[in-house]
Amino acid sequence: MAEHVEVMLTEEEVDARIREIGEQISKDYEGKSIHLICVLKGGSFFMTELAKRITVPVSLDFMSVSSYGGSTKSSGEVRIVKDLDEPLEGKNVLVVEDIVDSGRTLSYLLELLRDRGPADVKLCTLLDKPDRRVIDVKVDYTCFRIPDEFVVGYGLDYAQRYRNLPYIGVVKFD
Ligand code: IMP
Ligand code: MG
Repeated sequence: MAEHVEVMLTEEEVDARIREIGEQISKDYEGKSIHLICVLKGGSFFMTELAKRITVPVSLDFMSVSSYGGSTKSSGEVRIVKDLDEPLEGKNVLVVEDIVDSGRTLSYLLELLRDRGPADVKLCTLLDKPDRRVIDVKVDYTCFRIPDEFVVGYGLDYAQRYRNLPYIGVVKFD
């Protein structure tokens, strides 16, 4: 099936909002350091941009979980594909995600991370699709709440494509 992508949020809008959220996070964590956890692959573009806007000391780690195949529907299955390199004891963990959709991935992941003894675990997402929520997840920082549409760009993919778009677009099937 052929598809095309229509712009939902421009590069300028996304970058400006990430700056704002970065400032907010820097204020909220004043006097502390932050251990950012990027959820691969989708969170990677957002995490690097966000990290550049945070002014308190930052360390980074990466994790990969899978809940999707090549389709646009969640399988509900979550599995760790790549675990963290560093322990979390005593750290102020901030999980950085591309999108919270059903909430299944994050609810599983947050529970798993909390069991590793961090001082604190918070969640920051580039996008939130609240209409699609199946499991309740507390999101501490949201850049944009969007309607129930399948989006790509800024790390988000459709069948592994479009992650490199510098904006957020909606996939339209021709
Ligand atoms: P959840 O477990 O249903 O919240 O799904 C989370 C994951 O599904 C995200 O981290 C994305 O990888 C993927 N996902 C959900 N919605 C979209 C979308 O609109 N575009 C691309 N990926 C999506
Ligand atoms: Mg993701």
